[in-house]
Amino acid sequence: MTVRVVVADPTTHRSDVLAIGVFSTPGRLEGLGAKIDQALGGHLARALQEERFTGEAGTVMIVHTHGRLPAARIGVVGLGDRATFSLDRLRLGAAAVTRKAQDQHLSRVAFPPLQQKEWEPAAIAAARTEGVLLGTYAFQKYRKEKRTDINVDLLAANRAEASAVEGGRRRGQVIAEAVNYARDLVNEPPNVLTPEALAQEARRVTRGTKLKVAIWGPQDLKKRGLEVIMHVGAASAHTPRFIVIEYVPSKPRRTVALAGKGVTFDTGGVDIKPADGMETMKTDMAGAAAVLATMRALPLVAPPVRVIGAIAAVENAIGSRAMRPGDVVTAVNGTTIEINNTDAEGRLILADTVAHLAAGNPDEIIDLATLTGAASIALGPFAAALMGSDQGLVERLIAAGARAGERLVPFPLYEEYRKAMRSDIADIKNSGGRHGGAQKGAIFIREFAGSVPWAHLDIAPVAFLSRDEGMTPLQPRGASGFGVRTLLEYLATRT
Ligand code: BES
Ligand code: MN
Ligand code: ZN
Repeated sequence: MTVRVVVADPTTHRSDVLAIGVFSTPGRLEGLGAKIDQALGGHLARALQEERFTGEAGTVMIVHTHGRLPAARIGVVGLGDRATFSLDRLRLGAAAVTRKAQDQHLSRVAFPPLQQKEWEPAAIAAARTEGVLLGTYAFQKYRKEKRTDINVDLLAANRAEASAVEGGRRRGQVIAEAVNYARDLVNEPPNVLTPEALAQEARRVTRGTKLKVAIWGPQDLKKRGLEVIMHVGAASAHTPRFIVIEYVPSKPRRTVALAGKGVTFDTGGVDIKPADGMETMKTDMAGAAAVLATMRALPLVAPPVRVIGAIAAVENAIGSRAMRPGDVVTAVNGTTIEINNTDAEGRLILADTVAHLAAGNPDEIIDLATLTGAASIALGPFAAALMGSDQGLVERLIAAGARAGERLVPFPLYEEYRKAMRSDIADIKNSGGRHGGAQKGAIFIREFAGSVPWAHLDIAPVAFLSRDEGMTPLQPRGASGFGVRTLLEYLATRT
C-alpha cells in the first residue's frame, strides 16, 4: 500500500478509480463532480439517480467512464450532510472507496483536491491517508492468498499545495502505520506472540532509535519485588517479561507514563473460562500492543513530553503452579491482594505495573487494558470505557479521542465500588463481582497509582471485532489498534 502526492489535474490524471465526494445535503454533484458529469455527457448524474445514491456517509458507488476520461471509473463517495461535515467522514469515505476498489482488484485510486476551502489541504491529506491505510488493512501473514496492493495518488493543484498535502500524508501515514502495527500484534496467534516474543519485538523496534528499552525476566522481576506479575504468570512455560520503553525529547515539559496489559493468552486460570469466552483471548494483550505501537511512533511524532511506556507481559495459564482463588500476594508498593478470582488477572499485573510507574513520580499515568466483559456489555463494540482519578486528565483524553476519531465514554468511580473490593484478610481483593465490573476493576487499579493523576482505558469492548457488529470501512474484522490514535494525539498536543 503506497500513498503519494502528485501535482496533476483530476480530469486528465490516469487512474482505475477517481474518488469524488457527494454530500447527502444538498445531494447533487458540484464543482469537480459537475465538471466530470459534463465530460461524461450527464451519465454520472443519471447513474446516481437511477441507483438512488443518497450521499449517505461511508457509502460508495463505482461508475465507469468508458474511455471518456483518463480515469477509468469514478468512485462516488457519500460524505453525509454538508452542514455537519468533519474530517472523520473524510477518513471514512477514503477508507470505503479504497476498500471497494481493492475488493474489485483495482489498484490505482486517485483523490482530487477537496473543494471545501474551510479545510486545510494538510488535514484533508492526513485524514485520507489514515482512511486508506486503515481501511485496506488485512492480517495476511498466514495466508497464501493476498489482497490487491493499492497505489493511492493524492492530487494537488500546484507545488505549494503539494508540499502541504505531503506534510499531511506523512502525518497520516505515521498514525495509520502505528495503528496497523498494533493490529498486527493483536492478530498474531498466542503460540507465536508469547511474553518473550513480545519483549523481543520491543527490542527489535527500539533498536537504532532514540528510544531506550529495558526488559526484565523472571529473575529481575523477583529481585525487584514485582511478585504479583510473577504469580499471575506462574503456571505458564512462557515466563513473564516486564518491558519499559522511554522516550525523552530535548526539553521535556512533563512526564506521561503509559501502562499496557499484556496477557498474551487468558485461559482464566483455575477459574477457567468457558470455550466461548476463551476463543479470542489472544487479544488480551491489546493494551500492551497500543502502548508499544505508540512508543514506536514517538520519535516520528516528536511530542514535547517525556513518555515512559511499561508493559507487563504474561500468560494466564493453568497447571500445578497456577495461582489459586484464595492466594494472597504483595504488590511492589506493599499493598496485599487476596486473589478471589484468577480470571481477574489483568488488574493484578497492572497493580505491579502502575505501582512501579508511580514510584518514579510521573506527572500522570494512563493504563490501557482489555479488562472487563462488563465494559463490553455496557457499550457494545462502539466505544471504550474511561475512568480516572483526575477530571482534567479524563477530559483531555476524551477530547484527544474525539479529535483522533476514537470514542471514550466516562464511567463513574463511586466509593461504593471500593467497598465491594474489601477483603477479610488482605488490603484489597481482585474481584468484587460482575455488577459495575468495569468500575470495580478500575477502582482496584487506582489503589496502586498512589497520588499520581491516573486514568484507565478499558478497551475490552473495542480491541477486537469477532463479529460484523461494529464494523466500519475503517475497521475490518479482527484487531482494531484502538487507543493508538488517541494516545498519539494526546501526547502530541500535551502542553
Ligand atoms: N480478559 C478478560 C476481559 C475480556 C473479556 C476482554 C472479553 C475482552 C473480551 C479479563 O481478564 C477477565 O476475564 N475479566 C473478568 C473479570 C471478572 C472475573 C471480575 C470478566 O470480565 O468477566
Ligand atoms: Mn481474565
Ligand atoms: Zn484478561
